[in-house]
Amino acid sequence: MRLDKYLAHAQLGTRKEVKKLIRSKRVRVNDEICTKEDRQLQKEDCVYVDDELLVYDELVYLMLYKPQGVISATEDRVHTTVMDIFDAPLPKNCFPVGRLDIDSEGLLLITNDGQLAHQLLSPKKHVDKTYYVECEKTLSSEDLQLLESGTIQLDKEHVLPAQAKRISANSLYLTIQEGKFHQVKRMLQACGNKVCYLKRISMGSLQLDKSLAPGEWRYLSEEEIRGLKQ
Ligand code: URA
Repeated sequence: MRLDKYLAHAQLGTRKEVKKLIRSKRVRVNDEICTKEDRQLQKEDCVYVDDELLVYDELVYLMLYKPQGVISATEDRVHTTVMDIFDAPLPKNCFPVGRLDIDSEGLLLITNDGQLAHQLLSPKKHVDKTYYVECEKTLSSEDLQLLESGTIQLDKEHVLPAQAKRISANSLYLTIQEGKFHQVKRMLQACGNKVCYLKRISMGSLQLDKSLAPGEWRYLSEEEIRGLKQ
């Protein structure tokens, strides 16, 4: 992320004000005063203003278009995590809200707001999560009925009824309210089918921004944050 954008997000002023700050040599990146507002920051960079380290201790909310091939964790010895792909310094206590499998992609909320994360993930809150799903085999009307029936058993418990909307012979939108391990894949397996592509497109009121490509991210708007907290 550009230095001026980063400073503006850290509430140090408008883009115009932070540019002035940079030009007046009050901003240091690591050991060097930086006078270039378009300086690209890496995750490990430390930014100082008037010799004070900038620590984001406010709550931050980002949406990431999780690409396939990375895992939804903060650290891993083997795999690249979703936190490794950020191109800007984030508060150390940020984490992904909920999991997407390594081969799944789509909307992932990253925040350091534990209270909101709890609210979104708690099974009692019944927050809708919608997935675009492509399957190996054709989906029958009976399959859609089964997905919506609430009779599928996973981990010896019935899952809540889902909403299933067929898009083509072998693709559908599936909305579920829980987040059991591999839930979508296992629900389709219960229909005798196999998921070959899975993308989360929404979580509660938050929709994956269509202008993001896999691996890209942006901060949530105030309105999106408010919507999630309701
Ligand atoms: N359900 C799955 O099976 N996988 C995901 O990544 C998300 C939901």
